[in-house]
Formats: sequence, structure tokens, C-alpha cells
Amino acid sequence: MRVLVVGSGGREHALCWKIAESPKCSKIYCAPGNGGIKRVADLVDINADDIDSLIKFAKANRIDFTVVGPEAALVKGIVDRFQKEGLKIFGPTKDLAAIEGSKIFAKKLMKRAGVPTANFEVFENIESALKYVKTRSAPLVVKADGLCAGKGVVICKTQEEAAVALKNMMIDKAFGESGAKVIIEDCLCGEEASIIVISDGRNVIPLASSQDHKRIFDGDMGPNTGGMGAYSPAPVITNDLFKKIMDTVVYPVIKTLASDGMPYKGVLYAGIMVTADGPFVLEFNARFGDPETQAILPRLKSDLLEAMERAVDGNLADFSLAWDPRPCVSVVVASGGYPNKYEKGMEIKGLNEVSSLRDVVVFHAGTRRGRRAADTGNLLITSGGRVLNVTALGDDMQKAIDNCYNAVRMIHFDKMHYRRDIGSRGVSRAKR
Ligand code: AMP
Ligand code: GLY
Repeated sequence: MRVLVVGSGGREHALCWKIAESPKCSKIYCAPGNGGIKRVADLVDINADDIDSLIKFAKANRIDFTVVGPEAALVKGIVDRFQKEGLKIFGPTKDLAAIEGSKIFAKKLMKRAGVPTANFEVFENIESALKYVKTRSAPLVVKADGLCAGKGVVICKTQEEAAVALKNMMIDKAFGESGAKVIIEDCLCGEEASIIVISDGRNVIPLASSQDHKRIFDGDMGPNTGGMGAYSPAPVITNDLFKKIMDTVVYPVIKTLASDGMPYKGVLYAGIMVTADGPFVLEFNARFGDPETQAILPRLKSDLLEAMERAVDGNLADFSLAWDPRPCVSVVVASGGYPNKYEKGMEIKGLNEVSSLRDVVVFHAGTRRGRRAADTGNLLITSGGRVLNVTALGDDMQKAIDNCYNAVRMIHFDKMHYRRDIGSRGVSRAKR
């Protein structure tokens, strides 16, 4: 198969790396890709949300199968458009990508399907939202309905903070139309984990569990980011809990959508809060997690491309995935200043040395080759906030962490920043 992967981050690098090893894959392209993906796929200079150009490319290059990384393209309807052109593509249609694109859609679906999630109310005008806040005790969580690049959720410690968040979204339009409608929900306490599955509309195959680290600094301090590291499996997700999440979250959602006549094909990602009262859903995503995917795929022994093709064909019954039992840790190496202002254009050194390490793989996120924008030279240059995902397997979680940080310490660029504690929560939990 000739495969096109859409996107340009560490997740897409991991997807390309895994798909390229499939015996079913004869050629792989990535649009637009990055400086590391270039090693495993041919880069195509088309942005991930430029659906017209992607269709044109897929037709001209006889692409047999397309895999979409980022949510924006899914929510914009890339799958519907490809399907209309007779092109095979992995992911949910626009109506179903609303499970990520509209938090109100997701919450209403959960309510209908009986999925455990925080109590919530929906508001379309600020006066009633402010009135409601006064009747609730803090902390409260204010969420913009639409996509906000991971910034649309505010945990408010007081009613006053909730009022500020509401005004910011609904009056000052900080997120444009995405914040025109909001959800106010109860705050849940516990430990977060990610459960990612592949669905063919009726059948589901789960990927290994994982855990993300959203804050920029050690000890979960500082502002939220797109994710500073991940590990798989997540020890908080015991076998019993995994089964419970499949039975109370994943299957009810897939069944409800199927009985609505909307079979969900693609990745369903459930962000779970494991509370004292059991697992609750914080959010759904319609795609592979980033950086969770980077920590999950090195453990996957089966053919991911086959799994995705079977999902599109409605053929996942009796298919399962085999896993390397060893844990995997992925540390994000970022540009100093991220998630706020940061510089680009730093030369990255040390990756050749790292490439000779066993059980270590470096997925690139914000890198490009060359000295300047127009240059196609061979230097590797930083081009984004999250730059690299240094990823390692180990016989146990501590060994995976040690292997990973050993590699991280061999890499250098000016003002690089990374968390020193990725995986440590997993180690302390595994020891309990
Ligand atoms: P979401 O985009 O809905 O996953 O929210 C982003 C992050 O906000 C989650 O990963 C949680 O850390 C936090 N969050 C969202 N909803 C809640 C909630 N009801 N209670 C506590 N934390 C939450
Ligand atoms: N790691 C969180 C996400 O992919 O949304």
C-alpha cells in the first residue's frame, strides 16, 4: 500500500516509523512532516488542514491509505471529503469527530450512553452562566465548547476565577467562536490516564494504557503544555480498571453511536480521571494522543497499518494486538520558554550518538533540516516549542526512565528544556 500520513509532530513521526515497518506498506509520504520524519517518509509540502491539496496529492500519487494525525483536519471533515473522492482514509467523519470538536456533543453523548463523567451544565449566554456559578461551590471547571488547541479548559479555584474565565471566553472571545458556548462542570480529583482504542464502528481493539504529563515543570508545576512526556503502561490502570473502562466508557459510546446509525471508525481516545469513586471521562479525542502515541507504539509488536485498514473495512472482529511487556518512557525536549515565547533556529547536536543506543528511538516534533528557512542543508534545526520526543524501553519502568534520560543527556541545543521527572509517578505506583 502507498500510505499518506497527515501531520507534522512527534505523534506523526511515531506513526510513520511504525507504518513504515509494515509488510503491507510499499511507500510512505507525510504532509507536511518534519526534519526527523524525512528519514522514514517522503515529505510533501502541504499543510495538514489543506484538504483540497491533500486530495489532489493523494489522487496524483495513487495513495491507497491515508492516516490523519491532528484533530483540526478531522473536525474540518477531511475523512468525509476523502471518502467522497473514493479515497480510503482512517479516522472518524466530521459528525463523529465532534466527540472532540464539541465538548457539548461529547457530554450529551456520555449522558445518553450512561458513561461516568463530571456533572455539567451548558451555557450559551454569560448572564445565566454567571448566575449558575454563584449557586455552585468551587472548584469549578469552565470549558469552551470548541477546539482551542488544548487551552480551552480552566480549572477555577474560586467562583471569581470562574467568572473571569467565562468573561474571557464568552465576552472577550479569547477562543473566537469556540468559546461562544461553554460547559461548567464539577472538578474531579484523582490521577489521569489515557485509554486509546481503535474502532471499526462495532468492534474495538484497545492500545496499551498510557499517561501524559501536561505541565511544563517537574512536580506538575507551571502552565499546561501540549504534553511534556508520557509513559506506557500506566500502572494506575490495573487490569480490572482497564476492563471497567472498556465496559463503562468505550463500549457504551461505540454502541450508542452505532445504534444512532453513526458507526465510529478510527481512534477513540478517552482522557480518564481515576477517582476514589472509579473512572470518569474528562474528555474524548478523535485521534491518537500526543505524546502518548510516542510511548505506546514502540511497545506494539503487531502491524498497526493492518489494524487501521481493518478498522476502515469494518473487519476488526477476531483481531488483536500483541505488546512488548516492557514499559516505555518518552521525554519531550522543548525550546526554553515554551509554552510561551521561545526561539527557533537552534542547531541540535548529539542525535547521531543517540541513534546507536539500543531500545532508544527519537521522534522529532519541531525540527527541520537546514540553516535557514529556504535552506535544505543537513543540519538539524529547532522549528517549534516541542522539539524532540526521546523514547526508550526498559525491563522495568525505572530502567526505561534511566535509558531515556541517558539519551536525553547526550542531546544538546541552546536553551533546551525538559522535565526530569517523567515516569517517576509510575515508578512509585508500581512499587506500592
Ligand atoms: P480536557 O481538554 O477536557 O481533557 O481538559 C484538559 C485537562 O483539564 C484535563 O487533562 C484535566 O487535567 C483537566 N480537567 C478537565 N476536566 C476536569 C474536571 N472535571 N475535573 C478536574 N480536572 C479536569
Ligand atoms: N496528550 C493529550 C492529547 O493528545 O490530547
